[in-house]
Amino acid sequence: MDVSDLESWNKVIDKTLEQYGKIDILINNAGIHMAKGILDAELDDWNKVMAINTTGVWLGMKAVIPHLQNQGGGSIVNTSSIAAIVGGIGDAEGAAYSASKGAVRSLTKHAAQWFGKDNIRVNSVHPGAIYTGMAEKTGIKSREQMGETFKGRTPLKPYAGESSDIPNAYLYLASDESKYVTGLELVVDGGWTTSS
Ligand SMILES: NC(=O)c1ccc[n+]([C@@H]2O[C@H](COP(=O)([O-])OP(=O)(O)OC[C@H]3O[C@@H](n4cnc5c(N)ncnc54)[C@H](O)[C@@H]3O)[C@@H](O)[C@H]2O)c1
Repeated sequence: MDVSDLESWNKVIDKTLEQYGKIDILINNAGIHMAKGILDAELDDWNKVMAINTTGVWLGMKAVIPHLQNQGGGSIVNTSSIAAIVGGIGDAEGAAYSASKGAVRSLTKHAAQWFGKDNIRVNSVHPGAIYTGMAEKTGIKSREQMGETFKGRTPLKPYAGESSDIPNAYLYLASDESKYVTGLELVVDGGWTTSS
């Protein structure tokens, strides 16, 4: 699917309902990074990052929330980043990326406020440096190599997380183990954002 396209969301929802009968959980995970700052990004670059990282999250919630309301509740987890909390190397030189993830953070709190009455919980996860396909695309070949770049910023070794660290956070927020938790920013960054 293309998360920036509402029709694409509607098709996925139809298929999900056909196969499973209902929807309980929405994880907005899709995202892209573009290492361009305020001065070197073009308008198309900016719009592309915002369309996927922010508009995609809004469209996902817009499409799924009515189904959660109809069935009496559910859990939404939106993927933000430590780039919503710190700048500099924390956003890997991505101005639009920072802005897009900051918007996801605040949109999550907005939704947590407005849909708590429907028993819908909405939380955000904020990964730090995690070795995934996104890192591979920049030429990094292992978690240890990625960690070397962030040594001195992150208290926990090997200074970069593995991809399973993030779905484990999703699992907690999606399950009833977090039934009294909404609007939380769950930071999974090895302690990066504890440094000044
Ligand atoms: N890896 C990190 O260090 C890190 C840090 C902070 C936040 N994040 C966030 O975590 C999430 C997952 O990223 P990842 O690290 O696994 O990267 P990744 O590149 O491995 O995965 C991103 C996925 O998003 C999909 N995608 C991109 N555009 C899409 C679109 N228009 N419609 C549907 N799918 C689309 C890609 O196909 C890919 O499967 C992203 O939102 C990313 O911003 C990652």
